[in-house]
Amino acid sequence: MIKLNGIEKVYQTEKIETLALYDINLEVERGEFLSVMGPSGCGKSTLLNIMGLLDEPTKGKVFIDGESTVSFKDRKRANVRNRKIGFIFQSYHLINDLSVVDNVELPLIYRTMSSAKRRKRALEALEKVGLSARTKHFPSQLSGGQRQRVAIARAIVGGPEILLADEPTGNLDSVMGGEILDILNKLVKESNTTIVMVTHDDSIAHQSDRIIRLFDGSQVN
Ligand SMILES: Nc1ncnc2c1ncn2[C@@H]1O[C@H](COP(=O)(O)OP(=O)(O)O)[C@@H](O)[C@H]1O
Ligand SMILES: [Mg+2]
Repeated sequence: MIKLNGIEKVYQTEKIETLALYDINLEVERGEFLSVMGPSGCGKSTLLNIMGLLDEPTKGKVFIDGESTVSFKDRKRANVRNRKIGFIFQSYHLINDLSVVDNVELPLIYRTMSSAKRRKRALEALEKVGLSARTKHFPSQLSGGQRQRVAIARAIVGGPEILLADEPTGNLDSVMGGEILDILNKLVKESNTTIVMVTHDDSIAHQSDRIIRLFDGSQVN
């Protein structure tokens, strides 16, 4: 589903050049749940952003669903990102002025879809994450675990084949983190979603299918 060929990423600032990723080769199968581990600064977020077409590698190729993304123009990249890929972040990235259901509907605004259909899809996504009783609440009225579940609903509302999660349990206690993992595992089983998750937590990583480790921008196992 995702294939990385010889990925290298150099961040160039005025004085310093940082080699964030070096010669990463990786294949993630459809329906696989992969964890990425490694110390702070080793390139995990950079790798995820490149997989999710949020950032471009300095060298190498990214294939999504067999298609090379190198030649994608901005519009095509944005379109593939919106339709095929869902993102989840450590700090949820919800919009505080919008209700739960309005937050979840957001990714569908870019599609030609009636507002009634958008609402229906958002409510279905919220049901999948067990938040049907909180649709009219605002993010500030929810616990961290509930906010992350809203973020997952928003990430899956468009029916993405790939879900990319950057330390999704990083701000949660182990009980809430476990609930988030249960939801992700359920998605893999029921919808055959491909998930790549960055985490620091061994017990969380061990609930996925496979773990890869990065150190200083290189894969070490
Ligand atoms: N936008 C950027 N500009 C310059 N350097 C960056 C940028 N983003 C990340 N880096 C550097 O790249 C390396 C990898 O960062 P990152 O992928 O965020 O690591 P991780 O997610 O594993 O903590 C770090 O040394 C970081 O300082
Ligand atoms: Mg990071």
